[in-house]
Amino acid sequence: MKVSFAGTTIPSEGALALGVAKGGKLGATLGPLGSSVDKKSKGAVRRAIKAAGRFEGDKGQSVEILAPTGTRLSRLILVGLGKPEDFDTRAAEVLGANVARRVSATGDTKVAIALDATKGFKIDEDKLSARVGFGARLGSYRFDRYRTKEKPDKKPSLKQLTVLCEANVAAQKRFAILDKLADSVSFARDLVTEPPNVLFPKSLADQAETLTKLGIKVEVLNLAKLQKLGMGSLIGVAQGSTHEPYVVVMQWNGGKAGAAPVAFIGKGVTFDSGGLSLKPASGMEEMKFDMAGSAAVIGTMRALAARKARVNAVGVVGLVENMPSANAQRPGDVVTSMSGQTIEVLNTDAEGRLVLADVLWYAKERFKPVFMVDLATLTGAIIVALGHNQAGLFSNNDELATRLVAAGDTEGEKLWRMPLGDDYDKDIDSDIADMKNIGTGGKAGSIIGAQFLQRFVGETAWAHLDIAGTAWLHKDNPTVPKGATGYGVRLLNRLVADHYEEK
Ligand code: BES
Ligand code: MN
Ligand code: ZN
Repeated sequence: MKVSFAGTTIPSEGALALGVAKGGKLGATLGPLGSSVDKKSKGAVRRAIKAAGRFEGDKGQSVEILAPTGTRLSRLILVGLGKPEDFDTRAAEVLGANVARRVSATGDTKVAIALDATKGFKIDEDKLSARVGFGARLGSYRFDRYRTKEKPDKKPSLKQLTVLCEANVAAQKRFAILDKLADSVSFARDLVTEPPNVLFPKSLADQAETLTKLGIKVEVLNLAKLQKLGMGSLIGVAQGSTHEPYVVVMQWNGGKAGAAPVAFIGKGVTFDSGGLSLKPASGMEEMKFDMAGSAAVIGTMRALAARKARVNAVGVVGLVENMPSANAQRPGDVVTSMSGQTIEVLNTDAEGRLVLADVLWYAKERFKPVFMVDLATLTGAIIVALGHNQAGLFSNNDELATRLVAAGDTEGEKLWRMPLGDDYDKDIDSDIADMKNIGTGGKAGSIIGAQFLQRFVGETAWAHLDIAGTAWLHKDNPTVPKGATGYGVRLLNRLVADHYEEK
């Protein structure tokens, strides 16, 4: 689907979607284009609104008129905006996504969308219009690589979406940036959706390496290098798999030369069987998504480079496959992490923290970053606590935490802060090593996971995002179709844009 922008004239064919504000005589208020179609069609639009009954221009409401007389449109869709003063960028995205998806199911190939309420918006029309296009792109995401027999009438039909607005030149300009962001979100979604026989540590590293074409410096550290670095904790997780582990380091230097970078760290378990602490068969297939943290980091680096963000940023991802085998790590093994701290591995299924322990330490030691944010599908317990709408946020730094929460609110990638504390930390003290990789009581599993990670970040400002609930959805959302969400890319791009770029 191609997105473009044009002035506010009624198209001669295809579908047209018009925003309708809440309020006024009809309950809903037609904008200039709506009134003009109404006139052309001899009042058919107003009659349709009356006939629809409960339509009052509320957000989420719509009325569809097929082949309105006096026009050659296939359909006119009136979409409620709610009160224009409450209509924000997220609402614009949702509107664009809903219209695109709806028209795509009809067989129509073209749609024009106008917000069509020139008064009352608190946000500039060009900004809102660009977000309509952005939402349409995010909501129209599909992963089709392995479909060979889809019937044409099941395929989305929409090819061309035009947003109509007076400031269309400015809107187009804004959209160009968002369009690239949507590409990066889609890239992350693709990586997470790829099956685990195709996407394993090496092939994921290869994908990260493609970012060099955007000006990102990419280093791929192989097993020999990881051994030399002393990453015994990460290597232990991978030892049961025929796929060797990799750590990929991505650097985008768009800021002042030599200025300390921001750092993003990702869990990249390309398949988590649990290892010898094997997971039950039911639902195990979902564990291809256990590299979603690394996909978010790769997607974020891509997004920053694509818009040439004026920041120095590094992304470091630990890529392993967690498998049972004669050579697999045993429950009871003790490994030595790169930090020198020893870990008693009591459950081989608590592997994400073992991977991140070495990657966090490495990033901190090598880059002395301004902050580190790690993303990981770390615990099932975070889904019990927060469900699929918000990710868990753990941080040793209030400023970073506040900024992350705010970024999540604006981008619709929400975060809820969870506690850390000494009482929880004690729970992972081991009888024979420095720590064990699971808690004693089996309670507060997500916090215990975060406490474990905290032992590898030193004094660095750090936040851990447990995205086990938000990385994959089982039902459609307007801008996030079911499946891989790409959660984290928009969030971190916004965090950087709002606080860490050179002016
Ligand atoms: N990748 C899983 C976390 C997970 C589990 C995500 C279920 C989504 C759904 C992680 O590696 C894991 O297995 N965690 C264990 C930790 C436990 C052994 C302490 C868990 O959550 O059960
Ligand atoms: Mn696991
Ligand atoms: Zn895992």
